[in-house]
Amino acid sequence: MAADTHGLTLAANLLSNGELVAFPTETVYGLGADATNDAAITSIFAAKNRPSFNPLIVHTKDAEDAQKLARFNGLAERLSTIFWPGALTIVLPRREDGGLSLLVSAGLDTVAVRVPKHPLAHEFLAACRCPVAAPSANFSGEVSPTQASHVAQSLPLPNEGGPAIILDGGPCRVGLESTVIDLSTARPTILRHGGIPKEHLEKIIGTINVAETNDKAPRSPGMLSQHYAPATPLRMNAANILSGEAFLGFGPSIVDATLSLSLTGDIQEAAANLFAMIRQLDNQNYSAIAVSEIPNIGLGRAINDRLRRAAHT
Ligand code: TXA
Ligand code: MG
Repeated sequence: MAADTHGLTLAANLLSNGELVAFPTETVYGLGADATNDAAITSIFAAKNRPSFNPLIVHTKDAEDAQKLARFNGLAERLSTIFWPGALTIVLPRREDGGLSLLVSAGLDTVAVRVPKHPLAHEFLAACRCPVAAPSANFSGEVSPTQASHVAQSLPLPNEGGPAIILDGGPCRVGLESTVIDLSTARPTILRHGGIPKEHLEKIIGTINVAETNDKAPRSPGMLSQHYAPATPLRMNAANILSGEAFLGFGPSIVDATLSLSLTGDIQEAAANLFAMIRQLDNQNYSAIAVSEIPNIGLGRAINDRLRRAAHT
């Protein structure tokens, strides 16, 4: 549905009445529900077939609303002042008086909060009469949707438990999920690399730990190693192309690329193209998707993280 004033009002009313609504953010599309409504949150887990031990991010229109849900400390105040609205999610102790459904936190005493930057996300959140819990709007384990059409391809129809409405805000500008940082413990820790590079956060608060992927006891359940996976096998750091393979290039390359993340080697352009191109190549019966080496700095860290999970290595 077009995200004009009519569409936004309709969508905000549906969500406030317990329905699911898919909406654009600058990172990826989200599958939103009223974060104070147990039944609505349960329907998110059902629509995605998501394990209920994996907690959800709560989205608000501004930091002031997020502060009603989570206990901010000094570091959280500094980072939110600088990077919100934007591609940063902060994990903090949950306020008991915030009214959140406990299902949002999946049994943890923390909550992840984010203020997105996409103007339509902002308008939508401002029109909802509640905080909005939203995972990426894809079936669990698939790559995240960066266009409205990906949501429709991935999730069930409205009468089969899918979103009542998909708001179309065009392709997502960032194209990778938000960076998740845990500030609920003594040492700031990145739980998931994403749209805001670690280096940018470290300029403000100094050295940040990175949580290791650990399938036995993940700090962030979304860190399970098999995540964001296409059906076609994926090969990273490929310098050559084998018979039957698609080649996903980056920068000038010696092999003819089937598709290029960025011909000029622009890492932001590559991030914005990553999921849509993986989806496109996944639908074409290639034996594998070989991907050029991506420099492991800045946004490249998040890109390599997603590629590693897609390659199951
Ligand atoms: O860009 C994004 O972050 C998108 C848009 C829609 O905001 N959302 C998104 O949500 O990617 P999801 O559910 O696909 O990923 C949320 C990640 C998961 O890895 C989850 O385990 C982690 O955040 N998470 C959520 N709440 C947490 C908490 N209280 N403690 C630790 N990790 C948490
Ligand atoms: Mg996800």
